[in-house]
Amino acid sequence: MPHMEWTEDFSVQISEIDDQHRRWIEIMNEMHETLIKGDVQKVQNITEKILKDMQDYTRFHFTTEEDFLKKIGFPELAQHKKQHSKFYVQVHELLKDVQEEKMVLNTEIMKTMSSWFLNHILVEDMKYSRFVASCPAGDTSTVE
Ligand SMILES: [Fe+2]
Ligand SMILES: [Fe+2]
Repeated sequence: MPHMEWTEDFSVQISEIDDQHRRWIEIMNEMHETLIKGDVQKVQNITEKILKDMQDYTRFHFTTEEDFLKKIGFPELAQHKKQHSKFYVQVHELLKDVQEEKMVLNTEIMKTMSSWFLNHILVEDMKYSRFVASCPAGDTSTVE
């Protein structure tokens, strides 16, 4: 997985959500760096912590996004939520396996996660971004 950089292509034009996506990219990069640098035990210890951060952050971000989508009456909310929960379950399972030492995080898993993440922003999150852009100016530009 190459180091991910935030670009304007990722912007959903809602600054709080963009900030959260940026932070998510940072966590992904942190995980990747740990993976390519550390020895096995270190990787085991650190990935557990980072995966936990990732899980917490995922929940936090999905909640923010879903509350926002509800507020603006996004018509595809149910479908969007389903995608979130599917990914959340994956991260949760992964953390469990790492904690139980059933597996050590590897580059293959990182690749799967980062491509889900990129695809989700660029395809799915962009759908609500376009929806917001098509709404008459109102209370759709901020999360709060
Ligand atoms: Fe998102
Ligand atoms: Fe999303």
